[in-house]
Amino acid sequence: MPAGSTASGRTIRHLYFHIPFCPKLCPYCCFYVETGARNKNTDFIEALLADVRRAGEDYDLRPRTIYFGGGTPSALLEDQLAMLLGGLREILDCSELVEFSLEANPATVRPSKARLLREHGVSRVSLGVQSWDDALLKTLGRVHTAAAAEKTYETLREAGIPAVNLDLMFSVPGQTEAQWHATLEKTIALQSDHISTYCLTYEEDTEYFRKLTGGTFVQDIELDARLFEYTMERLGDAGFSQYEISNHARPGCESQHNKAYWLGSDYLGFGPSAFSTVGLKRWENIRNTAEYTSRVLGGKSAAEFREELTPAQRAGETAAFRIRMSEGIPLPELAPWKDEIERFVSIGLVEHVDQSVRLTTRGKLLADSVAEIFIA
Ligand SMILES: C[S@@+](CC[C@H](N)C(=O)[O-])C[C@H]1O[C@@H](n2cnc3c(N)ncnc32)[C@H](O)[C@@H]1O
Ligand code: SF4
Repeated sequence: MPAGSTASGRTIRHLYFHIPFCPKLCPYCCFYVETGARNKNTDFIEALLADVRRAGEDYDLRPRTIYFGGGTPSALLEDQLAMLLGGLREILDCSELVEFSLEANPATVRPSKARLLREHGVSRVSLGVQSWDDALLKTLGRVHTAAAAEKTYETLREAGIPAVNLDLMFSVPGQTEAQWHATLEKTIALQSDHISTYCLTYEEDTEYFRKLTGGTFVQDIELDARLFEYTMERLGDAGFSQYEISNHARPGCESQHNKAYWLGSDYLGFGPSAFSTVGLKRWENIRNTAEYTSRVLGGKSAAEFREELTPAQRAGETAAFRIRMSEGIPLPELAPWKDEIERFVSIGLVEHVDQSVRLTTRGKLLADSVAEIFIA
């Protein structure tokens, strides 16, 4: 529908879908997920499609990027995926779509599913490998081995998925520097298009957090810093550009969807726990799959929490994400934080490059402290 004939008169270019099903809950994970056999019914798929149709009355939905995250979107059954992806193509104007991403757990992708994803236009799969070391995969509570992850990577390539990202985690309890170096080497050898390297975060209300506060796990900040510095150097030498602190891409393979978030574009989220941000409006859907489904199918809104941001808050949030990007932030946009930025320049955490400001290598290690100044 043209923007002018929708209730808001706005065009939305970025859509996120939260698929909450996982084979098993990983002990470090804080995303809204459900385990068990709930992915077997189609009500949830119908609800997602109905939610998109309803959003189409309020907004002109002409996505440049679509992102299926979770949870584990690849845990959906093939029939469900076909119904969902086929249904979206019927509802949405996809003529300007440049990227269609989907997150996958290695235990959940067979060749027929990979082919189905490709046939339905998925252009980028993000595979949760985490480590190529079986002992560490066990520590992480993963349901797959390293060999299974490699096989899934090959399956995705054979199906012709144009871009594959591999997710890795470092600073995992018990992980040595040698283990992390070996995981990076193996990943480089596989020649993926993109590599995400996440430092393990101890999220509240997880088993890992309880083990940290209970003293079973101990954090070693100096080791974390060494692993992070090595990652930047090694992936840079291997031809990847670190376009964001945790994200490394071959030329032209950056995630367009994530870049849109970091640059502060509007987006709509569908599914339980998904956030949407349009202008100064932000809302989050209810964190319960059954409730999300029955509300949407009953014609009601799934939003559980809403807030109206001030222009300063929205600008601050965007700056906090954007400072993590290698392109930095144009100087005029940093006017509200001029004094703090000059202080960070004087202690070597940020630097001026042309007309922008970006983190130095040391600043990348302390990015959270720098980003704090933007959040009121
Ligand atoms: C939502 S998960 C999607 C992938 C899929 N569910 C899987 O785990 O294979 C996205 C990625 O976030 C990362 N991640 C999840 N929890 C994390 C944590 N507590 N600390 C650091 N990275 C985390 C993992 O690398 C994971 O692959
Ligand atoms: S890390 Fe991935 S597979 Fe594990 S519980 Fe979280 S979303 Fe599910």
